[in-house]
Amino acid sequence: MSGEHAIEAKNLFKVFGRHPAAVIEGLKAGKSRAELAERGTAAVIDASFTVAPGEIFVIMGLSGSGKSTIIRMLNGLLPPSAGEVVVQGRSVTRASAVELRRIRRSSISMVFQHFALLPHRTVLDNAAYALEIQGVGREERRARAREILAKVGLDQRTDAYPDELSGGMRQRVGLARALTAGTDILLMDEAFSALDPLIRREMQEQLIELQQELGRTIVFITHDLNEAMFLGDRIAVMRDGRIVQTGTPEEILTDPANDYVAQFVQDVDRTRVLTASAVMEPPHLRLPVTAGVRGALRLLREQQASAVFALENRRLVGVVTDRAVIRAVKAGQTDLRKIVDTSVLTVGPDDLLTDIVERAVESPVPLAVVDDNRRLIGVIPRVTLLAALGNVPATTREMPVIQSPIEMVAEFTPLMDAVAGEPATVRAGDVAVPVDAAAEGSER
Ligand SMILES: Nc1ncnc2c1ncn2[C@@H]1O[C@H](COP(=O)(O)OP(=O)(O)OP(=O)(O)O)[C@@H](O)[C@H]1O
Ligand SMILES: [Mg+2]
Repeated sequence: MSGEHAIEAKNLFKVFGRHPAAVIEGLKAGKSRAELAERGTAAVIDASFTVAPGEIFVIMGLSGSGKSTIIRMLNGLLPPSAGEVVVQGRSVTRASAVELRRIRRSSISMVFQHFALLPHRTVLDNAAYALEIQGVGREERRARAREILAKVGLDQRTDAYPDELSGGMRQRVGLARALTAGTDILLMDEAFSALDPLIRREMQEQLIELQQELGRTIVFITHDLNEAMFLGDRIAVMRDGRIVQTGTPEEILTDPANDYVAQFVQDVDRTRVLTASAVMEPPHLRLPVTAGVRGALRLLREQQASAVFALENRRLVGVVTDRAVIRAVKAGQTDLRKIVDTSVLTVGPDDLLTDIVERAVESPVPLAVVDDNRRLIGVIPRVTLLAALGNVPATTREMPVIQSPIEMVAEFTPLMDAVAGEPATVRAGDVAVPVDAAAEGSER
């Protein structure tokens, strides 16, 4: 049933020119857009996608790639040359003019790059305009417009006229107008492109907040990749009229469908797109606290590691370092719980790398990625993080910890003999780990 999608675009074509059917036939027969240019401009070629309710779906591509043409077909402003658009289970393409008006009024509103505000109306009346068209009474529409204006931070300027506002404020009025209409679906064509970077950033954040609060479905068009990555739950990348890849920002960044997309995304700020779960690795170095001090020592030795995560009922308790283990062994302690360092830094799977980099730098051991129940679902060693930021593949099982290797060998060797009951052959290389004198000093 198509009703489960907010929007469904099925094999959409749009050809401007006198012979659309012939151009479509040519395209289907494998001819290029350029070869057919004399007969018409193929602005959109065989575009199919679905948008889920509550999703922010971004259509991204260079100028002329067909973005605006697609979005205009979604609300029936442009009829497709072939294919069909279905909105909330109803065909827009086959709708009569009357039905189409109703769909636009009740289901879809559109926000343009330059908001066509009505110059002789106040901010409040501009924001209430869509409701006025819907026939909502004056008091009610003003009350609803006020509510939305407050959400976009314009409650102090309701009586101002558009020419008294800055560009960013005008943009907000336009957004408020579209939101006030109360439609489930918002189409936004380069809605923030005219804004300067700081205000634009603010609007992006506000849009995400509003969307989370109001649960609208948004189709957002942009040619700005960072904007697309920041806003989009999913992104469709367009090139010369075709959708060349549809995926989450992470999928598009980490698994570009072709060289074009790869080149396109190479300058994206990855820290703002990738989340902990995208770069984390399986947590190999972990053990239950019930394994005791001896268990920890054995694991550290087997794995040639210098720290291990301790779990209780599969939940993360903290980190046990080789140093602590050795001290415990010397002191004859057996309970691992007593030597767990519970100050371990954790991150959530959905945390953006930009928000965890600082913690990674501070953490002597890999960052622990834990779910809502504090279950350890992955680890992020610093090298992994750096590799992800630099876009080079990395696999590592190394668990670097801050400790001087030389000192460690001296401390370790006799103990390993004693505890494991066999001669230990610990070379400096076995415990060679990044040395961080500063953190080492803090322990003294
Ligand atoms: N009404 C029209 N008549 C003829 N050609 C058109 C028309 N509208 C768009 N085109 C052409 O269709 C192609 C796609 O245009 P469209 O406006 O969809 O691109 P876009 O991706 O929105 O670009 P931009 O980022 O510049 O807004 C372009 O080659 C354009 O010249
Ligand atoms: Mg456009």
